[in-house]
Amino acid sequence: MVMVQGTVPRDAQRFQIDFQCGCSLQPRPDIAIHFNPRFYTSKPHVICNTLHWGRWQREARWPKLTLGRGDSFLLLFLFGTEDVKVSVNGQHFLHYPYRLPLSRVDTLGIYGHIFVKAVGFLNSNPFVEGGTEYPAGYPFLLKSSRLVVPCTWPLPRGLWPGQVIVVRGLVCPNPQEFTLSLQDDSRQPPMKLEVCFRNRTMAWISPWSRKEQISAPFLFHPQRFFEVLLVCRDNGLKLALNGNAVGAVSLGRRALERLRELRISGNVELYCVRC
Ligand code: GAL
Repeated sequence: MVMVQGTVPRDAQRFQIDFQCGCSLQPRPDIAIHFNPRFYTSKPHVICNTLHWGRWQREARWPKLTLGRGDSFLLLFLFGTEDVKVSVNGQHFLHYPYRLPLSRVDTLGIYGHIFVKAVGFLNSNPFVEGGTEYPAGYPFLLKSSRLVVPCTWPLPRGLWPGQVIVVRGLVCPNPQEFTLSLQDDSRQPPMKLEVCFRNRTMAWISPWSRKEQISAPFLFHPQRFFEVLLVCRDNGLKLALNGNAVGAVSLGRRALERLRELRISGNVELYCVRC
């Protein structure tokens, strides 16, 4: 899933978001998906098309774009096996069947009248089988004081089966560690997920200081985006890193219900936390 957050300038004529097969300027690369909102008529609309060997194919047009000049937006492009679905500010807007193989796309091009605030390449929840719905496209809160690390997030009702905690951000340039702590309503130490950059290891640390190493490829890299999903199941938490399932930790239903706070610390810059 690709997320684009931005604003339409007040005098915008059009902008385009192109999923390109290459980045050369001359000759022009093929464009598998050209997503092109146009604002110069009285009715803003979107044109989608594919550019193949320098030729535009048949245009597809979607009227009733609920986005106008001066508006802020969050666009989600959800790539399925046959088509891409696009939502505008949380509402499904169009789907466009692929005309060129998606595997050829290697470049995202954004051109025209648009202020880009953030672009995110997001993973879907690997624990939702065959999911075709939009994964949660929570906006990035850039430079938000709420996300300055260390920070804490309340879990007023604890965790219950089906609940998902999402933590997205960027690893700092010379990281030492990154920790997610889940504190319950007692005074005992929290349950922790500890990422150690020096040893390139990840581990669960139980309140009784028992350390359980996570045997999975180390997916955290300096100055690179990361996404942690904690998916609450009946008796524990499943963990996914950058869209890959990397095991689970058992905790007991009661212990999950009693959790009251998520604390995030370490050498990361956060963009999004959802509990
Ligand atoms: C053309 C326009 C191109 C592209 C194309 C899509 O008229 O010049 O920039 O938007 O339509 O079909």
